[in-house]
Amino acid sequence: MKGDTPEIAAEALKTGRLVTLPTETVYGLAADASNPQAVARIFEAKGRPRFNPLIAHVANGLDAESIAVFDERARALAEAFWPGPLTIVAPVRDRERVCDLARAGLDSVAVRVPGHPRARAVIAAFGGAVVAPSANRSGRPSPTTFSDALEETGHAVGAAVDGGPCAVGVESTVVSVLDGVVALLRPGSVTREEIEAVVGPLAENGQGHRSPGRLALHYAPDAPVRIEAEAAKAGEILLGFGPGVGEPRWSLSPTGDLREAAANLFRLLREADRTKPAGIAVSSIPHKGLGEAINDRLRRAAGFVG
Ligand code: TXA
Ligand code: MG
Repeated sequence: MKGDTPEIAAEALKTGRLVTLPTETVYGLAADASNPQAVARIFEAKGRPRFNPLIAHVANGLDAESIAVFDERARALAEAFWPGPLTIVAPVRDRERVCDLARAGLDSVAVRVPGHPRARAVIAAFGGAVVAPSANRSGRPSPTTFSDALEETGHAVGAAVDGGPCAVGVESTVVSVLDGVVALLRPGSVTREEIEAVVGPLAENGQGHRSPGRLALHYAPDAPVRIEAEAAKAGEILLGFGPGVGEPRWSLSPTGDLREAAANLFRLLREADRTKPAGIAVSSIPHKGLGEAINDRLRRAAGFVG
């Protein structure tokens, strides 16, 4: 299928319809953040629990600060990583531009400035904030290609923009900056180390803030997922990592590169699942840098609490 232009997508958003939105992380299912009817359609299309708030995507840091209240550290993070795969949760300033339903009634709001040129073009043509969760149905792996996004939620959209395969492949890092405390709510493509280099040590688990959307079983294909596997058992497909592990076509990264593994993760989980295997086994992934985000998604796909 041929995609729509950013201008057509912006028109769809203005009339309250949903849009398939490419970003550098994963494909999003977008709506006008200020329109509660449109936002309600996102929750319906995904089967998403309404207590789980959405991320508002905006054009730049100035726009973000018209919606949220940033302290010095939030601003430092925005300057260091935007446009790009970082989401900042901060106190809400404008409750109209990101409606109550989009925030799940919270007094905080999640904002991000995406780096993908086509996402930026849609937001610019629309001229407002766009909420966009990942375009999968709730609980399933996030789509990282245009065709996977259409397969998941294409039935629900008024327009769909093709941005090619997502370069990053895992969702944005979510950091909260509330009451002077900076906490990591969701590991993602900006690593813990990169964030700590800007704002110093992050709050310990528990001292920080909660993210309502962190369900234990999440990002899951239909086949059972077994992590830290040494080899495939009968009927399983092994997603390998590193040289000589498993079949080349099922390797997350033959050279053991974490960026490549992140970019391939959801696509290979989906492709493996389509062959209806007895299970999907996944090699151990080193738990450093981007490995933290990959292991987080894998533990959840396997049904463990993160
Ligand atoms: O990379 C991404 O972030 C993608 C692309 C499309 O931008 N979007 C995405 O959205 O992953 P979603 O809805 O799948 O994940 C949003 C996460 C959820 O875990 C949600 O609970 C959390 O952000 N979140 C949103 N607002 C929050 C808030 N006010 N406080 C705490 N967590 C919040
Ligand atoms: Mg998601």
